[in-house]
Amino acid sequence: MTSTPASPWQPVCRRDEITAERIVEFRIQRPNAEPGSMPLSGFLFLDGDELRAYVNQCPHLGIELNWMPGRFMDSDNLFIQCSTHGALFKPGTGECIAGPCQGDALTALDTRIENGEVQIRFQE
Ligand code: FES
Repeated sequence: MTSTPASPWQPVCRRDEITAERIVEFRIQRPNAEPGSMPLSGFLFLDGDELRAYVNQCPHLGIELNWMPGRFMDSDNLFIQCSTHGALFKPGTGECIAGPCQGDALTALDTRIENGEVQIRFQE
């Protein structure tokens, strides 16, 4: 899918592609990014009935969290876990509750559904 330059909302996938067990990865361009600059990666999932989306960047060293495609959760499937040093993040808020970046948080993205399509944007 392609983004609409005039809108901060960027399409990610169809709503019906999001299931309780599935984390969808995507690329997102920062607002006002230089033309040709690398997009960031992000991930999207259902937290109960709520859609949550975060930039895939650990606040500790700024590197991607997951160690396999689509694998972001700890072994108990309760917290998002950074694969590098094991920091744990609450899925609902992105707050780090254990690890070297305790007290920091993942960068949350806004989500919405338009005509059955999930869209995201950076929070203002
Ligand atoms: S890079 Fe994520 S906890 Fe260190």
